[in-house]
Amino acid sequence: MDIIIRDNYDEMSRYAAGVIADFIRKKPNCVLGLATGSTPIGTYKELIRMHKEEGLDFSQVVTFNLDEYLGLGIDLDKPYHLDQSYARFMYEELFKHINIRQENTYVPDGLTRDPEKYCQWYEEEIKKAGGIDLQLLGIGGDGHWAFNEPGSSLASRTRVQALNKQTLDDNYESFFKKAGIERDKMPHFAITMGIGTILEARNILMLASGLKKADVVAKCLEGPVTSQITASAIQLHSGGITVVLDRDAASRLNNLDHYLHVEKLKREYGLL
Ligand code: PGA
Repeated sequence: MDIIIRDNYDEMSRYAAGVIADFIRKKPNCVLGLATGSTPIGTYKELIRMHKEEGLDFSQVVTFNLDEYLGLGIDLDKPYHLDQSYARFMYEELFKHINIRQENTYVPDGLTRDPEKYCQWYEEEIKKAGGIDLQLLGIGGDGHWAFNEPGSSLASRTRVQALNKQTLDDNYESFFKKAGIERDKMPHFAITMGIGTILEARNILMLASGLKKADVVAKCLEGPVTSQITASAIQLHSGGITVVLDRDAASRLNNLDHYLHVEKLKREYGLL
């Protein structure tokens, strides 16, 4: 596991975008798992810059998003400002700015009439695409990956999940409040890839920034593997793992000095 600590959010985002860009350059038709939330916005901005200024080419890239609120999706009949779907988020924050083909971008369909069947189909599509090469992840205030709330099985697959209070509070503050949507109008369920699904990605890139993530990051990386902090399943992943944190998010790690030392050593030996 490479734990990379950068001074601030912008530096974290630049590093993360560099990791993703390297994947795309090495394998132009790679399959990326993408995430929503406040954390990856800077990474997407940097990828857009790389596309515009350096010609980073997304024309063969395939993407699968982690999750979507049940009941939300891109609905052309809905007033634009009420659309808090993750499909819309991805379109606004990344897809519309780059040369990705729309048919290569998968975001779970929160408007599906048959969620159970849909979730199975989503899993099948990931398999058909050859599996996910690199999965981008944030971490929720409650330790979740995607919408795998505390108590989710670490072997879980794509399914419908009820959101817990902390997630509703966090996402209300970050997204719904700004859009003038009342809290009780927020969706309380979501379609989410499971932890088992996420662990099948060949590589993991997890990001966290800010003091409010410091405790949960320490529990995730240094505490026991537990379904109460579903992101702690990172400790079970067998492929390449890169965790990029800003100083604040890293500030409660017990072994902070060790991680800084290891990063320096790896750089000296050309391993990073
Ligand atoms: P955030 O959410 O990026 O908005 O903090 C992270 C997450 O819920 O995974």
